Parts: sequence; structure tokens; C-alpha cells
Amino acid sequence: MDPQRIAGPNYFGNTSHKDGDMVHFVSDDLQAWRKEKPGEVEKVILALSAEAGLPAQAELDKQDRKQIAQGRKLIQDEEHCAQCHTFRAREGIPRPT
Ligand code: HEC
Repeated sequence: MDPQRIAGPNYFGNTSHKDGDMVHFVSDDLQAWRKEKPGEVEKVILALSAEAGLPAQAELDKQDRKQIAQGRKLIQDEEHCAQCHTFRAREGIPRPT
């Protein structure tokens, strides 16, 4: 979600994806979104991070659960990520609490 890093060597920089839709989205639309609705992208980031279900992060994810729930809704919003991605669309995927 960081326009400085996404096209760098640790992310898509050494791949053909460096000119892909995701780099363009993070560089343009996502930055506009951050300005228009401060705080929403941070909730998306918390929600994405919680998807890993890391034991070391479990306590923090619990504290952030309201923001994580809001972030999940934002990810599914067709105005944003769901233009291109599905997220938890299939049945039977376990949902972290
Ligand atoms: C315009 C279409 C588009 C939008 C909007 C978009 N993505 Fe992507 N995303 C892609 C594509 C395509 C890829 C695969 C890389 C590439 O070719 O750009 C990708 C890759 C990713 C990856 C994989 C990164 C990796 O390291 O493998 C994640 C995670 C991701 N997107 C999350 C999101 C989230 C969260 C949002 C909303 C905040 C979002 N995307 C919005 C098109 C999009």
C-alpha cells in the first residue's frame, strides 16, 4: 500500500508487475482515497495484516477488531479493491475472530 515501495526491488520492482494494475492503483487511486477519506486505508491495512492470523499479532488483532471488521468491508467495496479482487467470496473459508 506504499507507493514508494510497491515498485521497488522487495515488491514488484524486479517483475513485470512493476507496470501492472496494482502498482498503478497504489500510486494513483489509493493516494486519492487516503486524502478523501483519512483513516480508511489504514483500516484496510489492518484487515489485510490480520488475514495472516499470526500468533505473535493475535493480541493486537483482538484490540483492533472493530477497525479490522470495517477494513474487511472496505476491501469488499466495489469502489475500491473489489473492482479487481474478490475477498472472502467463497463459502467455507474460515473467518478469524
Ligand atoms: C485496478 C485493479 C486493482 C485494484 C483496484 C486493486 N488491485 Fe490488488 N492487484 C491487482 C493485480 C492485477 C495484482 C497482481 C499484480 C499486478 O499485475 O499488478 C494485484 C495484487 C495484489 C496483491 C498481491 C501482492 C503480492 O505481493 O503478491 C494484494 C495483497 C492486493 N493486490 C491487494 C489489494 C487491495 C487490498 C486493494 C484495495 C486497497 C487492491 N489490491 C486493489 C489489481 C488491483
